[in-house]
Amino acid sequence: MWALRLVQTQLRPRPRPRPRLRRWPLRDAASSFSFSSSSSRPAAGGAVGVQALVFAQHGEPVKVVELKTLEVRPLDTSDVRIKMLAAPVNPADINVIQGTYALLPKLPAVGGNEGVGQVLEVGSEVTRVKPGDLVIPADVGLGTWQTEAVMSEKSLISIPSDIPLLCAATLGVNPCTAYRMLSDFEQLRPGDSIIQNAANSGVGQAVIQIAAALGLRTINVVRDRPDLQKLTDRLKGLGAEHIFTEEAMRRPEMKDFFKNFPRPRLAFNCVGGKSSTELMRHLGHGGTMVTYGGMAKQPVTASVSSFIFKDLKLRGFWLTQWKKDQGPDQFKEMILTLCDFIRRGQLTEPSCSEVPLQDYQAALEASMKPFVSSKQILTM
Ligand SMILES: NC(=O)c1ccc[n+]([C@@H]2O[C@H](COP(=O)([O-])OP(=O)(O)OC[C@H]3O[C@@H](n4cnc5c(N)ncnc54)[C@H](OP(=O)(O)O)[C@@H]3O)[C@@H](O)[C@H]2O)c1
Repeated sequence: MWALRLVQTQLRPRPRPRPRLRRWPLRDAASSFSFSSSSSRPAAGGAVGVQALVFAQHGEPVKVVELKTLEVRPLDTSDVRIKMLAAPVNPADINVIQGTYALLPKLPAVGGNEGVGQVLEVGSEVTRVKPGDLVIPADVGLGTWQTEAVMSEKSLISIPSDIPLLCAATLGVNPCTAYRMLSDFEQLRPGDSIIQNAANSGVGQAVIQIAAALGLRTINVVRDRPDLQKLTDRLKGLGAEHIFTEEAMRRPEMKDFFKNFPRPRLAFNCVGGKSSTELMRHLGHGGTMVTYGGMAKQPVTASVSSFIFKDLKLRGFWLTQWKKDQGPDQFKEMILTLCDFIRRGQLTEPSCSEVPLQDYQAALEASMKPFVSSKQILTM
């Protein structure tokens, strides 16, 4: 115990001038449309008017997002016109609207980075998709919260048509993140264990299911709530082996738990702050903690002893960077692998609520409330 009481050092980044946030390139969501000035005015010149959730300034989502009628830009030779079917509201979408995400679009912009659509029409040079195909975004910032859109062929990938709609709408971000984090940081074998916080998040639910399919044992940390038993039952139904509240993780009895359970080799941190310190405390010697989210908006704090006496590795993961580094073929290969998990019944959509596009205010509000445990999916 003496070692753990040695001077603790907070690994906070030194204060630096705030980096300039990168903007998505011009030919993105905002440039796909002519923006009409009124939410009720039909698109001009007989062009198709589509309904879209637009924000013209950064701020609180319920205040700045509006339902507008937009005119879709004409189809170019390498473009694809799609009817959007369903698109989730993810925390990153909220952060983009708030203006706090690492990549921001040119304003005004259509919200949403993820979703599934069906191809209606393709330009003369399009070869990889055809009318009727289901497609999901390969790029960020396409603006998926709209009824119809024109997007470039290279910004989309097709997915098999037998994938259930809600799985397809939530396939391109969270399951991919879960799969990469399980694959790329430690060489795990069946029987090894992993630990994660925010285990009921979209990513967390995908981690539970993919880990179970790979024979990995999971320790899942969630925040306490009135309906904890209901949540526990649901996560166990997905394959979670152990579920603890944040408070339980801090109790001395956890020592006894690890007498009969292998120390995790890998931890997934979605939260930061005290929660991530706890994950590190329970990681095995030489283990890795991968930070992929910062829901508590608190820094990751590591003790000196976790480096000296446990040789822990602290890493980060960002799917956007992975896709940039690996390219669209690798991304598509991963999507097809995940589709196989879905077909085998090993991966489902997260717990979610379908909300019609026009009820977006309710969806935005619910997606920002704690303990909702249900991903809001806008349906078009
Ligand atoms: N790095 C990447 O490439 C990548 C990819 C995908 C997602 N992400 C990030 O991963 C995170 C989760 O995304 P998601 O779509 O899976 O989220 P989600 O389904 O909307 O779930 C959000 C989760 O965060 C928890 N949470 C919210 N505020 C919290 C707080 N203050 N302290 C502790 N837990 C808190 C919620 O717990 P309660 O149920 O208790 O409210 C819930 O489990 C986001 O930060 C997202 O940006 C990153």
